[in-house]
Amino acid sequence: MTHNAMNTDFNERSLPRVVVLISGRGSNLSALLAADLPVEIVAVISNKSDAAGLGVAAQAQIPTEVIHHQHFADRETFDRALSERIDHYLGSPDDPSIDCRAAGLVILAGFMRIFSAEFTARYTGRMINIHPSLLPAFTGLHTHQRALDEGVKIHGCTVHLVTAELDHGPILAQAAVPVLSEDTEASLAARVLRQEHQLYPQVVRAWAEGRLKIDEHGMPHWGYEQDPSTALRVPGVQGA
Ligand code: GRF
Repeated sequence: MTHNAMNTDFNERSLPRVVVLISGRGSNLSALLAADLPVEIVAVISNKSDAAGLGVAAQAQIPTEVIHHQHFADRETFDRALSERIDHYLGSPDDPSIDCRAAGLVILAGFMRIFSAEFTARYTGRMINIHPSLLPAFTGLHTHQRALDEGVKIHGCTVHLVTAELDHGPILAQAAVPVLSEDTEASLAARVLRQEHQLYPQVVRAWAEGRLKIDEHGMPHWGYEQDPSTALRVPGVQGA
């Protein structure tokens, strides 16, 4: 992964650019960095100055920025300030000479803010999120405890495109894990997180290499064939 001098010709397809938004510990950011992806992480932006992920970015010599949401009168004003900084790195969709969809991706990696509709519309088809559940189950917070409370046998994580409705955008990929009878919220969260750290880099790599395409309507298209005989059964019921 390259993250040194930024190439400012937004149409020149050397490496696609990504901006990563975080609010916390940054373990998914670490996983993206460790995967040595064919993208240029041009900035990591946080809405919290104490986000541990900022240290992860700084260590990797990636430019970081903090935009405190408390300093803004309302959601729309914060979102405008955030999009101004994202567009600085990825190019503005208002500039007709730039193919923004081709040039860059906004990656949410534990960014704990709900966006205005204006913001999500601006990044239609070029902003992705990872959510710690098998969507559409368990949108929102406390997904692991809710999965335990419901007694589900399979849980997991989802990478999806971000749209105006929280945790409801088109699903790009999912990874499933078993829920064990002895699981606690912490043990289940750890099992899911290990999958997050594999799944998110895989999706970003597929996008960067052109195996995952997102059309002008924000709909994903995968260039792969699936084996229809594969299944994950939990518990592993024999003799069915
Ligand atoms: C992850 O569980 C992710 O699914 C959710 O927020 C958490 C971020 O963790 N969106 P980290 O900051 O990447 O460690």
